[in-house]
Amino acid sequence: MSLELNAITKSFGALIANDGINLAVNDGEIHAILGENGAGKSTLMNIVYGLLQPDSGEIKVDGKVVTINEPSDALAVGIGMVHQHFMLIPVFTVLENIVLGHENTSKVGKLKLHEARERLMKIANEFGFEIDPDAYVENLPVGVQQRVEILKALVYEAKVLILDEPTAVLTPQETDELIEVMKRLRAQGTSIIFISHKLREVKAVADRITVIRRGKVVATAQPSASQEELAALMVGRPVNLMPDKNPPKVGAPILVVKDLEILDPSGRALVSDVDFEVCAGEVLAIAGVQGNGQSELAEAMVNLQSHVRGSITVGGVEIVGKSVHESLHEGIAFVPESRELNGLIGSFSIAENLILDTHREAPYTKGFALSPKAVAIRGEEQAKEFDIRYQSIQDPVSSLSGGNKQKVVVARELSRPVKLVVASQPTRGLDVGSIEFVHERILAERDAGRAVLLFSTELDEVVALADRIAVMYAGKILAIVDATVSREELGLLMAGVKK
Ligand SMILES: Nc1ncnc2c1ncn2[C@@H]1O[C@H](COP(=O)(O)OP(=O)(O)OP(=O)(O)O)[C@@H](O)[C@H]1O
Ligand SMILES: [Mg+2]
Repeated sequence: MSLELNAITKSFGALIANDGINLAVNDGEIHAILGENGAGKSTLMNIVYGLLQPDSGEIKVDGKVVTINEPSDALAVGIGMVHQHFMLIPVFTVLENIVLGHENTSKVGKLKLHEARERLMKIANEFGFEIDPDAYVENLPVGVQQRVEILKALVYEAKVLILDEPTAVLTPQETDELIEVMKRLRAQGTSIIFISHKLREVKAVADRITVIRRGKVVATAQPSASQEELAALMVGRPVNLMPDKNPPKVGAPILVVKDLEILDPSGRALVSDVDFEVCAGEVLAIAGVQGNGQSELAEAMVNLQSHVRGSITVGGVEIVGKSVHESLHEGIAFVPESRELNGLIGSFSIAENLILDTHREAPYTKGFALSPKAVAIRGEEQAKEFDIRYQSIQDPVSSLSGGNKQKVVVARELSRPVKLVVASQPTRGLDVGSIEFVHERILAERDAGRAVLLFSTELDEVVALADRIAVMYAGKILAIVDATVSREELGLLMAGVKK
């Protein structure tokens, strides 16, 4: 099926998120959309899927103008979407999530639960997806939840599938599997709109690329273009994809972790026998395939985990047993893996989110009252430095684009005077230009004598930033190696193979 967007325009107040966008997606084509954070990609896709209404412009499906007022209208003309932030309801089962919200849709309304189950299993089989229709979504790993979203679109016979940053939260293996699924869908004649900040993937799978900058289409490119060329088209300037690094000036140990064990509520060990140190002036990266205890270890650094044994000291002070707030005040900057859950308060303004955890201090507080002016001024400074794109600094942080939300967390945490920086997936969802900037900032923290503990599933990022690499496997640190290690050896360690 072909999809044509003509002169789509959409404003939020004074901000023009989409400015006369034209886009044609051919039958059976994988069409990638590249663009910096806040360029307007999700806005455009939300318009196509009926979640937002354009101010002007038209949408054509197979040459005919269609009216899409809500997602069920989009599904009815064959357009499905998997969102940047999943829309599944965690306490419902897979099957319930699939029929949910479409009870009244013309085409789909006739779909009874048992028919939906049949269709779901048929499509899942076709794609080799293992899926339990009666499993609760909250118990499924992220990669499987995403499959549910894709299956949901396919059950409703989507002929144009929109994937908004589907790989941001996937492991490299899950990403490869998704790429195979996309190719199979294309072979069956499904058209795909693929949004990603990972240029390598875009090059691997796209037939054509459209580049959007500040709400406008600025270029179309072929997947044969180099990563450097694509990066420059997106950001409008050359981007250094590999940061320059000074030799480390390693000082005294700042973070010392001894005999650490993290248990789940039933007493099973998620992490055990963990010992390591991070010194002033160095970056220790924790690498590993997602799900080997890294998330729990990162959270334990600020006491977001409740069953911890052993010792974590920062500058000689024991952290284990303290509250999150107290831990942070021992001089820790913390960029959490899940910005939505632990990093931001969605209903607070952008400015307020930029000072969370320092808000009790001058100049923001006079007596008991928060000084909105001081907060706004500081917020605007930080937003400028980190290139956060917004309409008003007083808007709720939830109105920001995905990457700009991430930048709020990183800006706040890298602006506090601390001894230790703990950063989990700090560049998840960021565009290449912002990744370059955040990498430079993290290295600047290291060069200023801070200890940096980095958690990243991106090997490129680990290799770019780390001085030493600790590989986690099955809840333990399998080895700590120098950052000059070969990719092959790193890959083997991540698979649990130690020479
Ligand atoms: N509901 C809203 N209210 C105000 N501004 C909004 C709203 N939704 C989006 N915006 C703004 O529109 C712009 C485009 O956002 P959009 O989410 O489309 O960006 P994006 O290209 O998807 O970026 P990212 O790569 O970070 O996901 C951003 O500046 C964002 O702050
Ligand atoms: Mg987006």
